[in-house]
Parts: sequence; structure tokens; C-alpha cells
Amino acid sequence: MPSIPDSRANTEGGCEMIQKPLLRVRDLETRFFTEEGQVNAVEKLTLDIHDGEVFGIVGESGSGKSVTARSVLGLLESPGRVTGGELWYRDETFADTVRADHPDAVDGDYVDLESLPSNVRRTLRGTHFSMIFQDPMSSLNPSIPVGEQIAEAVEAQRRARANPRSVASRTQGYGLSQYLMSTVMGSRKYVKSESLERAVELLELVGIPDAPLRAKEYPHEYSGGMLQRAMIAQALAGEPKVLIADEPTTALDVTIQAQILDLLTELQEETGMTILLITHNLGVVARMCDRVGVMYAGEIVERGTLADVFDDPVHPYTQGLLGSIPDLEGIGARLQPIPGNVPSLLDHEMGGRCYFADRCPKAMEECLEHPPEFDVDGSSHHATRCYLAETTYSEARALDADYFGSAEPLEDAADEPVEPARSDGGNTEEDSR
Ligand SMILES: Nc1ncnc2c1ncn2[C@@H]1O[C@H](COP(=O)(O)OP(=O)(O)OP(=O)(O)O)[C@@H](O)[C@H]1O
Ligand code: SF4
Ligand SMILES: [Mg+2]
Repeated sequence: MPSIPDSRANTEGGCEMIQKPLLRVRDLETRFFTEEGQVNAVEKLTLDIHDGEVFGIVGESGSGKSVTARSVLGLLESPGRVTGGELWYRDETFADTVRADHPDAVDGDYVDLESLPSNVRRTLRGTHFSMIFQDPMSSLNPSIPVGEQIAEAVEAQRRARANPRSVASRTQGYGLSQYLMSTVMGSRKYVKSESLERAVELLELVGIPDAPLRAKEYPHEYSGGMLQRAMIAQALAGEPKVLIADEPTTALDVTIQAQILDLLTELQEETGMTILLITHNLGVVARMCDRVGVMYAGEIVERGTLADVFDDPVHPYTQGLLGSIPDLEGIGARLQPIPGNVPSLLDHEMGGRCYFADRCPKAMEECLEHPPEFDVDGSSHHATRCYLAETTYSEARALDADYFGSAEPLEDAADEPVEPARSDGGNTEEDSR
């Protein structure tokens, strides 16, 4: 029988984090088996996420953020597959529900979602886990009025709660199969009037004006900001414990982005739900998150509290991201490109070195061996996959600038400390490392 891995994370984040994590992700690996070869999209990803916190995942395009979210939700489509790791979710009632049929997946009040059959895991969607996508049309059906779709989500969750083993929803899933299903299954027969009333309440909650009227309109009659609000309402229909928001505001202009982020903050404070927020935008992280994981080439290369990562970054990639934007207060401030290219993630091209070595201004001989995760300064909550957590940069051991060929490392970053621009005046110590 598997058991929950020992975790220093019971104290992660300091005394306020003493409760057991809600989610414990251990060594999660996701692969895509493509014609070009195996893509290692998520690589040995380890994380704890706590009740009621907002955890941010930030990184450049192609670093594996969305695949991580889909892996957590069990929403990968072929040719993608989770090939390793554990995903422990703490919920006493759910553990009791599945214990008899799947004893090997349960340890106390934790369930390893990766050990469950997909039809059982699917029952968690909507009620326990919900997702907001970057593109609202991924989860809103263009041919059904918005209110009716939200009512369906409410109805599905009402039925799922009445019978936790059922998978009766037309809308709790995402993607094409759900869309096709919805076109052949009558809606009105499925939805009770209480669910329609709740849908209007949810639209009001997310700030849609004239909600009773707007509920009858189709998605194409909504503006981008309103669609995003409607999608949030749909995601909240089942009162989920965990909301995964994948770039929830990227397509919107800055004013609407700010409104949607404020809305998420208000809802989070009201409901106490946990949010996993995925973004390119360090300004959004600074504004919303309690803790953050920086992702590069499928790995979390640095994680910690906001203060750990913003004020005392150790990994040169984190330093590069922070140094590349002038103002973290502005939510419009997106990451600037760092010189060099994000690796393809194709297994046969990745090699056994630190994946950032070809772009790193501090690459040394030891970096030719892939770094494990190190605690930073003995901290239980700040960790990084970089030798600089334990070793001082040494020019004597530095790799030649052209060691990896043409990749250009971060300009002068080895010589000058990077000062993350933060209004609270935090300074960095990375140059001493
Ligand atoms: N269906 C797929 N088939 C093959 N490879 C895929 C597929 N989906 C994602 N990948 C690969 O997985 C890696 C991670 O992709 P992912 O979408 O998670 O990146 P991301 O960090 O979310 O990027 P972005 O910020 O652009 O959304 C990329 O190399 C991508 O090419
Ligand atoms: S392990 Fe080495 S190459 Fe990788 S980020 Fe750290 S210093 Fe740079
Ligand atoms: Mg993405």
C-alpha cells in the first residue's frame, strides 16, 4: 500500500502553514509521445499546496505550466500521459468514499489521485477541482445560453453531491467530447429551476449587470471580460475546494485584468478556496499569490514564499525573470524574453545537465550534472534546483562562454547583482552565492 511521502512541508511557509497540505504533488512526470520523440513536459515536479492559499506558477512559454494544470486535473489528452509520480489530495469524505473499492489509493484522509481509475477521478471535477481557462470558449458552449450552461454545472454538482459515485454532468468536463455530448442531450430536461436561479445568483456574484437578462444570452453576445466572469461563475458552480486558473486574464486589457484579479481575490477571501494561478506575469504573482513556483523546462526550479522568491532569488533563471521587468506593481508587465532559447523538451535533446546551463551566466563544471532540489539557507519552504544554493560561484570552475555553442547567456548577469524592482525595497544576496 502506498503511503504519503514524508514531508518537511508540514511546516512549509512558517507557522501559519502548520496544517497538512491540501495537495501533495510528488515527482510528477508527464510525457507526450510524438512523432518527433518523447516530450518531457513535466519533470519530477514536487509541490505542496495548502488550504486557502494562492499558489502561483510562473515561467516562460513552453515551460510546462498548462500541462502541469491538466495533469493535476487528469485532463491530458493523447499523446500526453502522466508517466510517474503521486498526487495526494486531502479530503476525509472522499477518502471514505473510495477506500473500500481502492484501498491502495488511500492513506488516512489522503487519496492518491494518480492511483484512481479515471471515471472515479472525474467525479472530483467541478465539486472539488475547477478550472478557468485562458480561452473562455474552451469551456463555454457557443450554442447554449450562458445562464443555462452555468445552471447545468450547478445541477451536475447538486446531483454529484447527492450521489458522490455518479458522473452525471454534461458540463463538469472540458473539451470536445463534452461539447459533442451537450449537442445531443437536451438541457432543459436536465436542469431544475433552483439551478437556474443559482446560475443567475452566480452571474450576479461575478459582477454581470442585469444578470437575469444576461443569463439568457449566448456567449457571442458577451464581451471578453464578461465571458471571463461567466467562466469564473461556471467554475464556482460546484463550490470547488481548488480553483486552477490558467492565464485567466491574459487575453484582456489591463483595466479588465485588474477587475478580474480583484474579483478572484474577493471570491477567494469569501469562500476560502485554494487557487493555483498560472501566469506569465510576475506582476500578477506579486499582486495575488502567497507562494510561487518558478517553472523552467518542465521543472519547478525555485519555489518559496513571495518574499523568498522576489527578495532573495537564488536560481539565475528567477533572477533573470525578475531583472527583466521594470515594475512588478503593474499587472501589464509581462516577462521579457531572456536571451537564448527555451529547450524543446524532447527527451533525446535534453541531456543530463542543468537544463538552464546553456543560458546561465554562472554555469560551472558541476552544472553538467543535473542538479537536485536544494533547501535554501536551511529553509523548509525555500528551495531551488541550482548548485548556487550550496556553492559559491567560482570563475575557476566556470564553463567557457561558448561551451554550449551559440546560446547567449544573460548579459553581464554574472558580474552585477540583479535588483528585483519591488516597492517594499527588498534586496538580494544572490551575488554573494
Ligand atoms: N498536445 C501536445 N503534444 C505534444 N507536445 C505538447 C502538447 N501539449 C503541450 N506540449 C508540449 O509540452 C510543453 C509544455 O507545454 P505547456 O502548454 O504546458 O507550456 P506553458 O508553460 O503552458 O506555455 P504557455 O505559457 O505558452 O501557455 C511544450 O514543450 C509543449 O510543446
Ligand atoms: S545549476 Fe548551474 S547552470 Fe544551472 S542555474 Fe544553477 S548555476 Fe546555472
Ligand atoms: Mg499554457
